[in-house]
Amino acid sequence: MATPESPYGPSDHSSLVGGGKPVRLQHLAAAKAAGTRLTMITAYDALTARIFDAAGMDMILVGDSIGNVMLDHGSTLPVELDEMVVATRSVARATTRAFVLADLPFGTYEAGPGQALASAVRVMKVGANGVKLEGGRPRVEAVRALSQAGIPVMGHLGFTPQSVNTLGGFRVQGRGEAEEILVEDALALQEAGAFALLVEMVPEPVAARLTETLDIPTIGIGAGARCDGQVLVWSDMAGMTSWRPRFAKQFGQVGEALHQAAVDYGQAVRAGTFPAKEHWFDS
Ligand code: KIV
Repeated sequence: MATPESPYGPSDHSSLVGGGKPVRLQHLAAAKAAGTRLTMITAYDALTARIFDAAGMDMILVGDSIGNVMLDHGSTLPVELDEMVVATRSVARATTRAFVLADLPFGTYEAGPGQALASAVRVMKVGANGVKLEGGRPRVEAVRALSQAGIPVMGHLGFTPQSVNTLGGFRVQGRGEAEEILVEDALALQEAGAFALLVEMVPEPVAARLTETLDIPTIGIGAGARCDGQVLVWSDMAGMTSWRPRFAKQFGQVGEALHQAAVDYGQAVRAGTFPAKEHWFDS
């Protein structure tokens, strides 16, 4: 089944995960079993979500990186659940195929299963297909409660940005003795019902071990090539800024192109060459 044409070119997704149908949990599990790599990207609004959905991304994450990328907070900590609800509604409305995940922001699930459930319900009601939350064994009961309530949960281990203060900054996790703790955390999340695990900034062999150990898919970022899938923050992927984390690759220079378009527009207005006759109404 082909996806309807998008303004960005033909988008026949019949050869991708889900065979052109909306991506669901069973397709993600089948991809792990078949060794098919999964693709995931962040989006925070309908404009970009529509582009990434048409491009064939399997999962779109409404990340709490909205705090860094869109709201200029410099961290994810200040992000409010209300902000995630607005962003998730927008992304979900523009997405026809990808599995839409919403991050539960800092302070909206750590108190326990009841708080986690109330927060997750908010984003599920506006169109998310599942949620992501950070942390290992201390989150097991929350993950269990959400799963039992019919809410797919992706875990997030390794570098967990909401804990940047206790982790001592942006540092690689899971080295040395911490590797065993990571594996135990991952198994506990899987046992509690998590359908997938995001693994951020851990050594490549540790991510490979997690991928081999777990039955659920691992999605890596800064974790090497031996995860079941990869995720990037879209602004890093598209080259929106001159800075990028070491583990990200810029697949385009969209920031530069957008800047140039705005410069050209401004120059055309100042020179009186825009609008031209074809842009106005004679009567
Ligand atoms: O919020 C986010 O963007 C994330 C990244 C690790 C992908 O969780």
